[in-house]
Amino acid sequence: MDVKRFGVVGGGTMGNGIAHVAAQTGFAVTLCEVDEALCAKALATIGKNLQRGVDKGKMTADEKAAILARIAPTTKLEDLAGCDIVVEAVVENFEVKRKVFQTLDGVCGPGTVLASNTSSISITKLAATTRRPGKVIGMHFMNPVPVMQLVEVIRGIATDQDVLDGVMALSKAMGKVPVEVNDYPGFVSNRVLMPMINEAVYCLMEGVGTPEAIDTVMKLGMNHPMGPLTLADLIGLDTCLFILNVLHEGLGDPKYRPCPLLIKMVDAGFLGRKTGRGFYKY
Ligand code: CAA
Repeated sequence: MDVKRFGVVGGGTMGNGIAHVAAQTGFAVTLCEVDEALCAKALATIGKNLQRGVDKGKMTADEKAAILARIAPTTKLEDLAGCDIVVEAVVENFEVKRKVFQTLDGVCGPGTVLASNTSSISITKLAATTRRPGKVIGMHFMNPVPVMQLVEVIRGIATDQDVLDGVMALSKAMGKVPVEVNDYPGFVSNRVLMPMINEAVYCLMEGVGTPEAIDTVMKLGMNHPMGPLTLADLIGLDTCLFILNVLHEGLGDPKYRPCPLLIKMVDAGFLGRKTGRGFYKY
């Protein structure tokens, strides 16, 4: 797979991180958001995150400017027509993703690979909504994208071998470590991570420990960089609940049932860092 132009749909937490890393790799990036204000916000976030490197002497201000100049913002999916690969990073909602995939399938050339950064939606199901299921794949980056090494590469039932090989090589070119997994609910990352987070919320609900106690046990006792409740606040409690529901429905096992306290927090609008309140206040 020869990538020159790299498309990203969605400039939120994951999308701006993916655009950042793609531009830093040297690709010409087209970043699509729904309106100009959100385009400007995504570019400002990328600028702020690149500035961390400038402040630490890891890159020059000129290098930062060159990376930003490689990112062309747009509000039209049609502007992604000339991309060799497009990574979708919109909200975790099948209908929204389906519309993006079907539009891209209509405007992009037959060789364009369509990837999703979804954390749990079936790649096979998304692929089946297009006329190019062999060219649809999961490219699951981790938050914060510029820092985390992993890309979970998800092979749908119809994904072509050369597309898989190309995305593995592309992830390496972007400085990441790709791991190939098959398409089952939650893949590997969230199949393992979310039950741990859910159990931490049960511990809180049942009064086994305070948020600080639960997080400190996992941080200092298991050497996790952050405790599960802090991590849930970083990921977003709505996203955690969504993924748990996918696991619960998709695998049909009651062990994945979301903790009632998690549901209550989401109902209250306490979604974590992004709303200023989750298990902690920000
Ligand atoms: N962009 C660029 N650089 C960033 C950054 C960002 N958004 N956030 C942090 N950094 C950089 C910092 O500048 C710093 O750089 P240096 O090493 O050059 O100094 C480095 O990352 C470490 O940051 P900090 O010193 O501020 O903080 P820290 O050492 O506590 O690390 C952390 C922060 C990397 C987030 C760490 O706490 C961590 O790894 N946490 C776990 C994150 C995790 O598990 N992510 C996966 C979530 S699950 C997911 O994403 C998938 C899903 O489907 C739900």
